[in-house]
Amino acid sequence: MNKHKLYNLWINSKLDSKIIEKILLKITGLSKSQLFLLDEIDDIYKKDIEKAINKLKNWEPLEYIINNSEFYSLDFYVNSKVLIPRDDTEIMVDKTIETIINYDWITLIDVWTGSSCIPISILENTNKINNCYVIDISKNALEVSKKNITRFKLEKKIKQINWDLIKEILWNKKYELNGNLIITANLPYIKNNDFGNIDKETIEFEPALALYGWKNTGFELYEQLINQCFQLKKVNNLNTIILFIEIGFDQKQYSENYLKNLNLKFEIFKDNWNIDRCIKIEF
Ligand SMILES: C[S@@+](CC[C@H](N)C(=O)[O-])C[C@H]1O[C@@H](n2cnc3c(N)ncnc32)[C@H](O)[C@@H]1O
Repeated sequence: MNKHKLYNLWINSKLDSKIIEKILLKITGLSKSQLFLLDEIDDIYKKDIEKAINKLKNWEPLEYIINNSEFYSLDFYVNSKVLIPRDDTEIMVDKTIETIINYDWITLIDVWTGSSCIPISILENTNKINNCYVIDISKNALEVSKKNITRFKLEKKIKQINWDLIKEILWNKKYELNGNLIITANLPYIKNNDFGNIDKETIEFEPALALYGWKNTGFELYEQLINQCFQLKKVNNLNTIILFIEIGFDQKQYSENYLKNLNLKFEIFKDNWNIDRCIKIEF
């Protein structure tokens, strides 16, 4: 492309050149090398480029504009119906993969799946999982999850369930849950009082259903899920259930006390920013 033109576009928009490049790649459909060799950007793209730059100036996250988010070094389709995958969640994928190595006959359930970035990253990095279910209460989120399941050609391994928590799995015998069960869950854990600390992009553009627990501790949905895990183990006569959950930066103390009171075996892991983020719980 005419480097002069790109330079003007970049200077005028006051945006990072990498961001401009990502927008151009999305709008033109060209590869990086094709874009680099281009002398001029065709005028037919001009309106779309301006539109995208305006959206960014109005705080819309880049990931929603380009319908792409990188997680665990993989590219996921995203739109405003799902949470943008966060780096903080990668520790859960790491720890799940580490754990899986020790077991055979594994069923994986990802509760609150959103884009399905968690189970897909796990399945792309291990072949030990026989069966995988992904659950979300939002049909719109499941449409995004479907796109990613298709993108990674995992239609045969991953089945979707549109339900609340794991209730459907708990009582419906059609789900085969023998052997060892691993559950991953990144639930909406932001509590009422924390609303003021969230950035503008998140509040305005990401789905409230994916973010807010709306309650006092932010741990309430996990308490329901933990309760359901006890029932699930009993009803299905399972060898093991290992549950991985993601917690907020200030939820370690509360969750630790809660799990100790239940006599559960658990381990807490820090994310890349040294914040207590992921808990592995054994039933
Ligand atoms: C924090 S997002 C996590 C998305 C994804 N797992 C990730 O890490 O990027 C939570 C997701 O839970 C879903 N959700 C909220 N309440 C739910 C419920 N009671 N049962 C099932 N899913 C729920 C929302 O639709 C949203 O997609």
